[in-house]
Amino acid sequence: MRLSNKVAIVTGAGAGIGEAIAVRFAEEGAAVVLADLNAAGAQSVADRITELGGRAVAIAADISDEAQARAISELAVTEFGGIDIVVNNAADFTTFGVEDATPEQWRRVLGVNVIGTALVSKHAIPHLKKRGSGAIVNIASMSGIIAQPNFATYNSSKGAVLTMTRCMALDLALFKIRVNSVCPGCIYTTATEREWTRMGETKEQWSARQAPLHMLNRVGEAREVANAVLFLASDESSFVTAAELMVDGGYVAK
Ligand SMILES: NC(=O)c1ccc[n+]([C@@H]2O[C@H](COP(=O)([O-])OP(=O)(O)OC[C@H]3O[C@@H](n4cnc5c(N)ncnc54)[C@H](O)[C@@H]3O)[C@@H](O)[C@H]2O)c1
Repeated sequence: MRLSNKVAIVTGAGAGIGEAIAVRFAEEGAAVVLADLNAAGAQSVADRITELGGRAVAIAADISDEAQARAISELAVTEFGGIDIVVNNAADFTTFGVEDATPEQWRRVLGVNVIGTALVSKHAIPHLKKRGSGAIVNIASMSGIIAQPNFATYNSSKGAVLTMTRCMALDLALFKIRVNSVCPGCIYTTATEREWTRMGETKEQWSARQAPLHMLNRVGEAREVANAVLFLASDESSFVTAAELMVDGGYVAK
């Protein structure tokens, strides 16, 4: 087991990629704190992990609120005695071009994706320092690198996550805390389901448009992202920090 005796926080763990990460970590022996706006979603994933013999606890939290972000770390310490790993996965999917986005929409997407990632990390870092080592994995996106039509709000937030990751890695290296980001391509989740519904498409129609944009000519699965996050969270990546791991089927390089 690659995460034996480790305690991990996963935000946005009530669905999609966060759910897959929480389950994958539990399979590898980690005790997992699942945080999500959607309390029922997080609780049902935690229940599934527990039924399979793992250790998990759920908490309802909006990561853009500092008190709620702090409560995630407090729960990890109360329930499991410390924190070794933080996965900042929760995200807001407000997508507008600059001409259309309102200040409130900008505040929401940056408030969750950038400030929320910072706040969850801020309150976990003192506990990682106490352990003498740790790993933070920020889920960014290929959207943080490329331009996409009418996605300026979301893509800007993911670009900021990539830069924040490098800055955090520099500040925390002294404490043997590694900080890396993962950039998924198109992955089947509840978020992409909302996207094809918004476009008035079926899953098949949406997939037929998206698949050829990836060198591997398909859309990815959440577990494929979870496996990459597991690598960055585990000691197998002990000399990797400030990296951007593409899990995009070759989308950006194409
Ligand atoms: N699905 C993709 O194609 C794709 C591609 C690139 C990057 N990503 C990134 O992967 C991550 C997960 O995306 P997903 O597709 O699984 O999304 P999803 O919408 O399926 O799941 C996201 C979860 O985060 C939760 N959440 C949203 N805002 C929150 C908040 N303020 N506080 C706490 N929880 C909150 C939601 O309730 C939901 O359960 C995100 O960071 C996203 O930007 C996804």
